[in-house]
Amino acid sequence: MSEMQPNPQRHSSLPCSRRSFLRGVAVATAATASGALLAACAGEEVVAKADAADLEVGGATILDGWVLSRPGENEYKAFSTSCPHAGGTINSIEKSGDVTVAVCPKHMSKFDVATGDVLEGPSRDPMVPAKKVERNGDSIEITD
Ligand code: FES
Repeated sequence: MSEMQPNPQRHSSLPCSRRSFLRGVAVATAATASGALLAACAGEEVVAKADAADLEVGGATILDGWVLSRPGENEYKAFSTSCPHAGGTINSIEKSGDVTVAVCPKHMSKFDVATGDVLEGPSRDPMVPAKKVERNGDSIEITD
């Protein structure tokens, strides 16, 4: 009977062979790249940023084609300034009692900035929301 010889290619004391490690790195790199590619293909990107300190609770502002509002301390909403009625540009924010309102000057539709809902026509449709709005440090980022 021959005695078992140690295999120089094998390092049983290592939890992971070099080949397995490299294979894992390749898989992880491919997964990361495909994740980035999927995000890019989905067309989502940060399209506007605001300084969180500039937006008081209950307030709203218009920036870079978006109505950005802060209905609650940690709640942010964003809607396109393209009016859902006939493509006018929503361009002003006003108060109506306790409600903050976005106004389209083309036919004077009014929208609730907290929900996007129509408060006054002729628009029958609500404002179109951004895909995502989130706070990132001191900034509020709108993703679409
Ligand atoms: S296009 Fe905005 S109210 Fe008509």
